[in-house]
Amino acid sequence: MKKTILTGIKPTGQVHLGNYIGAIKPALELAKIQEYKQAYFVADYHGLTKIHDAKEFRHLSYGIAATWLALGLDADKTIFYRQSDVPEIFELNWIFSCFASKGLMNRAHAYKSIVDSNKQHNRDVDFGVNMGIYNYPILMTADILMFNTEIVPVGKDQVQHVEIARDIAKNFNNTYGETFGLPKYKIQESTAILPGLDGRKMSKSYNNTIPIFEEPKKLEKLINKIKTDSLPPDAPKDPHTSIIFMLYKEFASPSETQQMKDQYLNGIGWGEAKAELFKVMNRFLEEPREKYNELMASTGTLDNILQEGAEKARGLSIPFLKQIKRKIGVI
Ligand code: ADP
Ligand code: TRP
Repeated sequence: MKKTILTGIKPTGQVHLGNYIGAIKPALELAKIQEYKQAYFVADYHGLTKIHDAKEFRHLSYGIAATWLALGLDADKTIFYRQSDVPEIFELNWIFSCFASKGLMNRAHAYKSIVDSNKQHNRDVDFGVNMGIYNYPILMTADILMFNTEIVPVGKDQVQHVEIARDIAKNFNNTYGETFGLPKYKIQESTAILPGLDGRKMSKSYNNTIPIFEEPKKLEKLINKIKTDSLPPDAPKDPHTSIIFMLYKEFASPSETQQMKDQYLNGIGWGEAKAELFKVMNRFLEEPREKYNELMASTGTLDNILQEGAEKARGLSIPFLKQIKRKIGVI
């Protein structure tokens, strides 16, 4: 049987360069490997933990689907679906909640960081926590194990969730015998955490992102906002600590990257470095941006593609869930 690679993105904001470099780009690279079965999805119900405006939610969900396709995902060769179109995942989510200890959820980082912040502000520890946030790692476990996934390409912040999926899989296997393989995460080491405009991790939560499909003028403006030090233009600079260089190498050819490295070492003004970054980034993004805008103007097309994907996904999830239900004695 082919090994499965699976990853999802939740629709909670505009897709930014951190998402692209940390999750989408590595996933699309793996997608080129024919020996793998590929599953990519819009983790819409994960987004519901946060987005409670229907119009915005719908728009963001289409946005994730259009992003995958615009960046080159081939829906014919992969299983490309919307999580909420595969009800078996949610049934499995319940089954897994009976195999996930509450303590394990208490230690999940997203929940823990809200609790810590509440403590700091002298609020009730669970202030602002809905059960969706609390159970988030269990639903993610169901996403992963529903398709017997072996490899999960994600950014560094999702590693703990994949480890939780392994724990839950082991728990289930210990009780009912070997049922689920243990998934492994795959992170892009060199850019595991891409910094944002202010130098902190690029994240919607910090408002320091560069959305990938921003119009060129806005993109240029954002690039100009990247924080730099006050070294004079002709002073030698360290490419390894520069956000501009980190981004540059993701979009430039190897020879361009080498050239830029030399320029850093010989001294390059930040203004010039930013202009070069804009050039290579825009060169790469031009075509996908156009495709993205086309798809967003034709959501019916997106619906059709996602529906077809959901059928493929359910071709796998329906029989597998049946086996699982037999094991636990529901049927
Ligand atoms: P955000 O932090 O903006 O809310 P998400 O949590 O929606 O981003 O992340 C979606 C995917 O993109 C995850 O796999 C995550 O690890 C990856 N990712 C997000 N931000 C970054 C970043 N700055 N560097 C690398 N990967 C990232
Ligand atoms: N939790 C992931 C994120 O915040 C999104 C996600 C949901 C996911 N289910 C998944 C990623 C399954 C990989 C596999 O980015």
